[in-house]
Amino acid sequence: MVTALFAGLLASCGGKQADNCAENYGINYSETSTVSKENKYVLIISGSPRRGGNTDLLCDAFARGAEEAGGRVEKIFLPDYRVDYFTEADEQRVGDRANEAADDVPMLVDKMVRADVIVLASPVYYMNITGQLKTFIDRTFGRYREMKDKEFFYLTACADPAESTADWAINAFRGFVMCLPNPTERGMVKAVGMGRKGAVKGSPYEEQAYNLGLRI
Ligand SMILES: Cc1cc2nc3c(=O)[nH]c(=O)nc-3n(C[C@H](O)[C@H](O)[C@H](O)COP(=O)(O)O)c2cc1C
Repeated sequence: MVTALFAGLLASCGGKQADNCAENYGINYSETSTVSKENKYVLIISGSPRRGGNTDLLCDAFARGAEEAGGRVEKIFLPDYRVDYFTEADEQRVGDRANEAADDVPMLVDKMVRADVIVLASPVYYMNITGQLKTFIDRTFGRYREMKDKEFFYLTACADPAESTADWAINAFRGFVMCLPNPTERGMVKAVGMGRKGAVKGSPYEEQAYNLGLRI
């Protein structure tokens, strides 16, 4: 049934895969920025355990572009932080009570609430995003409703050359983003056929990520 749902979503995109299908998830899509602000706060969440790996390189390229475009850019390399699993007790932690948690999550979630632009980045792991990023996303539960009117970019890498494999990560990002109030998707990079660490370096995908950053 789940497979049928994904197949339906992709099919309704006219076979063009996930690129321009945000609206099928109830997510706005805009080529241009909807944030009329100089010095946008751009938060990049780099969700691979491989520092300097393909996803991380895409994040750095995006950051270069976004900085050139005047953004105030901050990259979070997620494995540098303590992110505990979501627990039943976290369901009771809403709003400021999220700050009672003992790990780095309240501080990181606060950055998401303050950001204008959020970049979600993860390699494909078993047709999904990494456990690190998913664990963090689950922990936003106490404050996800405060992440209003944010713009999102997605970055992903995978070994498989098929774009449909990268779409599994895009679908995972969208599963979170579609739950937020009034999100807007701005673009994505799907670096396919990138298995080896550092393969993205000098590839067209690195340039795509840089160009995407310029568009904030
Ligand atoms: C645990 C694990 C699961 C993976 N699963 C997939 C997969 O399902 N499909 C795929 O194409 N590549 C898969 N890969 C390969 C990675 O997506 C690929 O090497 C990617 O470039 C890693 O990005 P990174 O350098 O940012 O960590 C997997 C790698 C690991 C370590």
